[in-house]
Amino acid sequence: GPHHLHYTALPDWTQSLGMVMSLILLAPSWGGMINGVMTLSGAWHKLRTDPILRFLIVSLSFYGMSTFEGPMMSIKTVNSLSHYTDWTIGHVHSGALGWVAMISIGMVYHLTPVVFGRKQMFSIPMINTHFWLSTIGTVLYIASMWVNGIIQGLMWRAYNADGSLTYSFMESVVASHPGYIVRLFGGFLFLLGMLLMAWNVWKTIRSEEKPAVAVNTVGAEA
Ligand code: HEM
Ligand code: HEM
Repeated sequence: GPHHLHYTALPDWTQSLGMVMSLILLAPSWGGMINGVMTLSGAWHKLRTDPILRFLIVSLSFYGMSTFEGPMMSIKTVNSLSHYTDWTIGHVHSGALGWVAMISIGMVYHLTPVVFGRKQMFSIPMINTHFWLSTIGTVLYIASMWVNGIIQGLMWRAYNADGSLTYSFMESVVASHPGYIVRLFGGFLFLLGMLLMAWNVWKTIRSEEKPAVAVNTVGAEA
């Protein structure tokens, strides 16, 4: 909690304790990430043919990345640069898009045929395309927000010799504009992938193929 409240009215010692606990948090986070990745030991070749597995492994990589970035951002000297800037927004989405969304997408592709009793998804190449759209979209999103975050952080803390601010807030917004265009493009790619998924799931459910197992036998006559 306290790492969200650095340089606020929160007592200084609480902020420092929050920083230490956040650094310790790297261990359980990476424990989970390594456990997930090592589950593939001996089966790495499956990544070549199984795009669902790619979603799961790349989401774990983003999880590892955002839980490394988080403890770094909780260090007070780093946070004095990153706080209130787009760096935080980049961190949010390396967790939100790279980890939460991509692991959820992988689950949807795995579970849809299971729940509806189909052999596999309607189109595997479409899953592959989705994988690349969401990976490239996420990378564009977070990379542009890192650049914006550092630009903003540096511009906001720049002082003239007389103690006045070197840049107005508006100048930092103008400097951030190219990054927002790149984020828009990345978000558009991500959205495109989600539309592909919606179509693929719809076609899988609507396919003529009979369910492999009875979906609901409760109350059925012998
Ligand atoms: C060890 C793991 C993590 C640590 C120590 C950590 C630490 C931090 C820090 C220091 C900030 C910036 C606070 C600020 O300056 O305002 C932040 C923001 C944020 N983090 Fe993390 N983070 C971790 C993992 C994650 C993950 C995996 C996600 C998402 C799934 C996530 C979601 C967020 C969100 C949503 C914010 C922004 C909150 C706001 O609106 O201000 N974090 N985190
Ligand atoms: C292509 C998909 C997405 C795009 C383009 C997008 C875009 C944005 C934008 C423009 C903001 C406002 C940033 C600001 O205040 O400057 C934002 C905030 C946020 N988004 Fe997303 N988002 C996407 C997907 C997601 C997903 C899937 C999640 C959660 C799983 C999520 C969680 C959040 C959170 C927690 C914030 C608040 C961050 C903060 O204020 O610290 N986003 N998003």
